[in-house]
Amino acid sequence: MSDPRLTPMAGPRSRGGPIARGSDEPTTTPEEVQLTKARSDRGTATGRPEDTSDPPGGRAKRPTIAIVDYGSQYTQLIARRVRESRVYCEIFPHDVTPAELASKGVVGVILSGGPSSVYEANAPRIDPEVVDGRFPVLGICYGMQLMAHVLGGEVGPEGTREYGPATVEIGEHGGIFEGLAPSERAWASHGDSVLRLPAGFHAIARTERLPVAAMSDGRTRFGVQFHPEVVHTPRGAEVLRNFLYRVCGATGDWTPAAFVEEAVGQLRREIGDRHAICALSGGVDSAVAAALVARAIGDRLTCVFIDTGLLREQEPEQVVATFGPRLRLVAVDAADRFLLRLAGVSEPETKRAIIGEEFVRCFEEEAAARLPAETVAGQKPVLVQGTIYPDVIESRSRESKTSARIKTHHNVGGLPEVMSLEIVEPLRRLFKDEVRRVGAELGIAEDILWRHPFPGPGLAVRVVGDVDREKLEILRRSDAIFIEELRAADLYTKVAQAFAVLTPVRSVGVQGDFRTYGYLVALRAVTTEDFMTADWARLPYDLLERVSARIVNEVPSVNRVVYDVSSKPPATIEWE
Ligand code: XMP
Repeated sequence: MSDPRLTPMAGPRSRGGPIARGSDEPTTTPEEVQLTKARSDRGTATGRPEDTSDPPGGRAKRPTIAIVDYGSQYTQLIARRVRESRVYCEIFPHDVTPAELASKGVVGVILSGGPSSVYEANAPRIDPEVVDGRFPVLGICYGMQLMAHVLGGEVGPEGTREYGPATVEIGEHGGIFEGLAPSERAWASHGDSVLRLPAGFHAIARTERLPVAAMSDGRTRFGVQFHPEVVHTPRGAEVLRNFLYRVCGATGDWTPAAFVEEAVGQLRREIGDRHAICALSGGVDSAVAAALVARAIGDRLTCVFIDTGLLREQEPEQVVATFGPRLRLVAVDAADRFLLRLAGVSEPETKRAIIGEEFVRCFEEEAAARLPAETVAGQKPVLVQGTIYPDVIESRSRESKTSARIKTHHNVGGLPEVMSLEIVEPLRRLFKDEVRRVGAELGIAEDILWRHPFPGPGLAVRVVGDVDREKLEILRRSDAIFIEELRAADLYTKVAQAFAVLTPVRSVGVQGDFRTYGYLVALRAVTTEDFMTADWARLPYDLLERVSARIVNEVPSVNRVVYDVSSKPPATIEWE
C-alpha cells in the first residue's frame, strides 16, 4: 500500500470495535440546510436536471457501474459495496435508457431488489434493451425476477417464499461464483421467484426450496435470488467483486488520490477564473469541499465561518486555528443576533426556522461584502456546497415519496435568490467514508474527519425549550466533559454520535448539607449505521459514573445526570 492511489476509497471500516460506529451520518451543517431547500425549490441544487452532471473529476467517461434502483432498502448498500471494491458507481432510476447509460461510460448494470412483484400493473420496469446483452447485468432479487420476466421467463409466488438465512448450493462455479465453496450461506428475502427461465439462461445455484437461486446466460448476465450486499451473506462481497472485475472488466482505480486529481481538474474547468464562496461549519463535508476547491483555485475561494453562538465548547477557536492558516477564512461572530432572535422561543421547529433564516441572512451579507465585484462579465460567482451522495439520494426519494415530517432537518431556509450564485458541489457523488478518505488525502486532521455529526441548528436543539446564554454555557461545559471522558476511554469513535442535553427539568438535590434545586442534564450516545434507526450505546458504568460526577461537581447549577436508554424509533437521536 505504499502507492497512495491504491488506498481504497471506501475500504472496510478500520475503526470498528465493540460498539459499531455509524459512517453514513446525514450531513448536518448549515450550508446544507440551505441546499436542501434550494433543491426542493428548484428541482435540484445545481439547477441542472438530475444525473446529467459529469462524474466527479469530470472525465467524460469514467468506467461506471450503474445501479438501477427498485426501491430496496439495500440499494445504497450495494453502491457502497461496489465503491469498497474501488469501482465507481452511480444509482439510476428504473426508467434509465441504454443511451443514458452508454453516455455515462457504464460498463455493467446491477438491478437492485425491491418490494414490488413483476406481475403487478404498476411495478417498476426496465427498458428491455438494458438487459438484452449489450451490458453485463447482475439482477438481485426483484432485479433478477424483472430480468427473467422481461426476457420471456416466468415469475410467480407459488410456495417459494424465503426470508432470512438460506444455504445456496452452487451448481456452476466461474463467473460470479468463482472461488466460492459448493455450498454457501446467504441472506434471502423474497416472496416471488423465477419459475421458468428465459431462453438462453440456466440455473447456476439452488436452495432447499428454490430450484433457481441464481441464473446465468453463460456470458455476462446473471441473477441471484439472495442479497450479496448484506453482511449476512458472508461471501457476498466476493460475488459482487467477481461481477465487477471478472464479468464487467472493472479495474479498481477509484481511489482518493485519483479522485482528488480529477476533481481538481474538473473544478478548474468549471470555475474558470471566477471567485467562489463557501460556508465553513467545521464539519467534515464542508471542510473537505472547501479544501478541494482551495486546491483548485487557491485564494479565489473565500470561506465564511459563522459563529452562531450555538456551537460546542472551543469550536469557533478550533475552526479558526485549523482552517485560518490554510484557507482564506472570514470568521463572523454572529452570536448576538442569533440569540436575540431566539429569546423566549421554545418550540423546536420555530427555533430551526429562525436559525435557518438568520444563517442565510448573515451569510448573504458576508458574501455580498467579501466577494470581489465580479471578474468576468456575465459570469456568476460560485457557491461551494458540501452536499454528499446520501443527501442527493435522500432528497430524490423525498421528492418521490410522501412521508410524515418528523423534523425539518435541513429544510430551514432558502438560498437567497438575489445572490445569484452558481452552486458547485464537488462531493455530490461521494459517500461519507469516501469524503473522509479524500479529506485525509488533502491533509485534513483526523480529529475533524472523524467528528460526530452536529445538527445545523446546533446546541439550540439540545437546550430543550427556550435558549439563552446561561443555559448554553451549562450545556457546553457538560457536553465537553462527556466528550472528553468518552475520548479518554477510547470510545468516541466507537459510537456514532454522543452529546449532552440540557433539559428544562429542575430537581431537588443536596450538596454539602445544602438543598439544591438544579438542572437535569441527559447524556445521549447512540450506535447506528444510517441515522434512520439507532440504538443507545452500552457505555460502561464506570465511564458514566465519571462523567456524572464531573458534571455535577464542575458545572454549577446541575445536580442530576441521567443516561438516555431509548432507541430510535420510538425516540429520535436529538431530543428536539
Ligand atoms: P434525529 O434526531 O432525527 O437525528 O434522530 C438524526 C440525525 O440528524 C441530525 N439532526 C439534524 N441535522 N439539522 C441538521 O442539520 C437539524 O435540524 C437536525 N436535527 C437532527 C441529528 O444530529 C442526527 O445525526
